[in-house]
Amino acid sequence: MARLILAIETSCDDTCAAVLDGPRVLASTISSQAAAHAEFGGVVPEVASRHHLQLTAPVVDAALREAGTTLDDVEAVAVTVGPGLIGALLVGVSTAKAIAAPRRLPLVPVDHLQGHVAANFLEPDPLEPPFVCLVASGGHTLLAGVREHAAYELLGQTLDDAAGEAFDKVARLLGLGYPGGPALERVAREGDPDAFELPVAMSRDPGLDFSFSGLKTALAYLCRDLGEDGVAERRADLAASFQAAAVDQLVAKLDRALKRGEWRAVALGGGVAANGPLRAAVADLCERRSVRLKLVPLQLCTDNAAMIGSAARFSDAIPYPDYLDYDAFPTKPPADGPIRQGHLDVSARRR
Ligand code: KG4
Ligand code: ZN
Repeated sequence: MARLILAIETSCDDTCAAVLDGPRVLASTISSQAAAHAEFGGVVPEVASRHHLQLTAPVVDAALREAGTTLDDVEAVAVTVGPGLIGALLVGVSTAKAIAAPRRLPLVPVDHLQGHVAANFLEPDPLEPPFVCLVASGGHTLLAGVREHAAYELLGQTLDDAAGEAFDKVARLLGLGYPGGPALERVAREGDPDAFELPVAMSRDPGLDFSFSGLKTALAYLCRDLGEDGVAERRADLAASFQAAAVDQLVAKLDRALKRGEWRAVALGGGVAANGPLRAAVADLCERRSVRLKLVPLQLCTDNAAMIGSAARFSDAIPYPDYLDYDAFPTKPPADGPIRQGHLDVSARRR
């Protein structure tokens, strides 16, 4: 297994590179594009791709510099190949190939969600499977049953909006800018979580899937009925009530997963894991159920390349030149080895 890994992540609106020596992160550089998307109230895919195009090379350079190393020392290049915005992913995948191929280095394609799980395998204090990982971000909400380093079982996932997406949309309804999660949490501190009765979705559903669109719609109707002045007056109560209902659903499903399996620990990933009331509720649940709670630092919860390098340590590398026609995937990339889309005959073209 290669020890020195350069990892690249460009699946959404953060341009990220990291250098890992085994499970140790030597550098993790993140250039957030949040400001570029704020004026549009959400991520604009083409704007994201163009920013990645400008930022990927300097971000890789910065990570190598911070790690005190050069491309000559890198033994493998890891890159997020999906799921994500296809144009954004292609910038990362092309950059990774352009770095790896001239040096005859292996390329390790990484599933972004496997990356969120693998953030827990990094030093210090790496978590050993088995554990349940709740990943809640702007694009995904899922419960992963992790029994081995290389893969996870999908225990449940959102049937509609991701949790972070719901925070962002409700924040927008309340006039709170983008990204909305942190702003909504701040405003909610001044509000009463019981002020409005909101549906805790999927509470009667026996499965482990999530749904956030009903909650979002309930908020939209409330705002419509209250009118502009009413919303302004009750903003903190609306934020607190929404946040409580969202957290309740996440924690209820996590509790159900714990009851179903012999899990020794719980981990959190994704940007929503930054939410204080969610962290407190999960900590409380873990104490009640006597399982360990592993919380990685916030910069490893949100999108970063260190988690991609971590997942790469347990994934199959593709030797040079077999990855030259490797594609990117807007949805989940294939799990069973280096399958490519398109099956282009590059070997014939090289001759
Ligand atoms: O993991 P992440 O950085 O990027 C994605 O892969 O989406 O997650 C970003 C999401 C956004 O929807 C943002 O509003 C949400 O995480 N978020 C929060 C908080 N901080 C970030 N949601 C609730 N409370 C927070 N404190
Ligand atoms: Zn993510």
